[in-house]
Parts: sequence; structure tokens; C-alpha cells
Amino acid sequence: MSLHIGAAKEEIAETVLLPGDPLRAEFLAHELLDNPHCYNNVRGMYGFTGFFKGKRVSIQGTGMGMPSHAIYVHELIHGYGVKQLIRIGSCGAIQPQLGLMDIILATGACTDSSFNDQRFGGHTFAPVADWGLLHKAYVHAEKAGIAVHPGNILSTDQFYGPVPGDWKKWAKYQVLAIEMETAALYTLAAENNVAALGILTVSDHLETGELLSSEEREKGFVRMGELALSLA
Ligand code: HPA
Repeated sequence: MSLHIGAAKEEIAETVLLPGDPLRAEFLAHELLDNPHCYNNVRGMYGFTGFFKGKRVSIQGTGMGMPSHAIYVHELIHGYGVKQLIRIGSCGAIQPQLGLMDIILATGACTDSSFNDQRFGGHTFAPVADWGLLHKAYVHAEKAGIAVHPGNILSTDQFYGPVPGDWKKWAKYQVLAIEMETAALYTLAAENNVAALGILTVSDHLETGELLSSEEREKGFVRMGELALSLA
């Protein structure tokens, strides 16, 4: 039992998938896991444990943005001994070669947040994916015939930022897409010597303004969920 997760220690698996939306956690648990068991509904932030191809895995909602995401990641690591954390989320693409529904493996995550500044005080830490998980995800995706784009992303604090087109400065440095959580995940994983990976599906494109329908979003989430579960 931790402050925001009302589960007994043994109820949560060593590998946890982390969608932002708790209803996605519930949907994926019922869609993809055998014997799913809900271990948390504190603040409606559902968490489920079940089996994927015989392996015990959990799926925990985290909410949007680094402050919320970091609460769950911290408690999963410190309260429940979780060893592999895999974010599955959506992102806005900022490169022309990316289309809706494309999957990105976040090799690194830049941020405009003060999350790391509070740790490194003016120096820059480079939050990166766990190589083992990243490599495994790439190989599994290739085998499954899923095209993936490995590359750098931006974790922003502001979905509705004050400067229109500000994303272009990140695009110039080959950043692929924008989301709101992975930099905190990678930093906390490094701090605690556990493995983390961010897998993202492109839900919108900032240049073209295209958006996924809710049906396509659901399909994208199942595909990404299966890939993430195969890493357990
Ligand atoms: N910006 C930030 N987070 C996001 C976006 C975006 O455009 N799309 C999905 N998550």
C-alpha cells in the first residue's frame, strides 16, 4: 500500500505498462490480459495485474504530465519493487516523415520542465531509454511486421503552450514528437537503477493538424500494448 496505490505489495508485477489514461489501463487489461485483477481505484487511477502469454504483468494509469506520472513511477519503484516500466502513450508528431498511427520508440527524452533542473541545478541530464528494452522492442516490432521509428522526443509541461509554432525549434534538432511524461520516467528509472522505455503512437501531427479518430486511437493502443507486453 502506498499513498496513491491501494494494493498489497504482491499484487503488482515486476513489469508495469503505464498508459496516461486509467480507462485505457482498464480497456487493455480486459482486451489483452488473462485473468485481469483490479488492484487500484484510488482517485480512479486504475491498475490491473494479469497474464500475457503466461507472464505476469501489470498495467497502471498515471494521469497526464510529469508531476502525476512521477508519483506513480516513484511509488511503483519504492513501494512495490517494480523493475521494468514501459510507458505507452500518444504523441504529436513534428517531423514530415511521420504519419498518424506510426509508433515511436523514445531513445531519449528532452524536456522543457524543471523536473531535472531540480536535480541537476543548471546542468543538463540526458534522459535515455534502457538499451535492453529498446533493443528488444525494436526486434519484436520487426518480427511482428510493425514499422517503428526510434528517436528523440520532447516531454513538455504545457499541452497548450504560449508560443505558437515553438515546436519547430525542437524539430530542427531531429526531435520526432511531443508528449508529456517520458523525460520524468527515464530520469526516475536512472536514479533508481531500473529499466524504462517509452513507446508512443502518433495521435496528431502539429504541422498538418491531422488527428486520429477515437476508433483509430483504440486500435493504436492495442497494437502498442501488445508490443509492450511482449517485453515482459
Ligand atoms: N503535445 C503534447 N502532448 C501530446 C500531444 C501534443 O501535441 N499529442 C499527444 N500528446
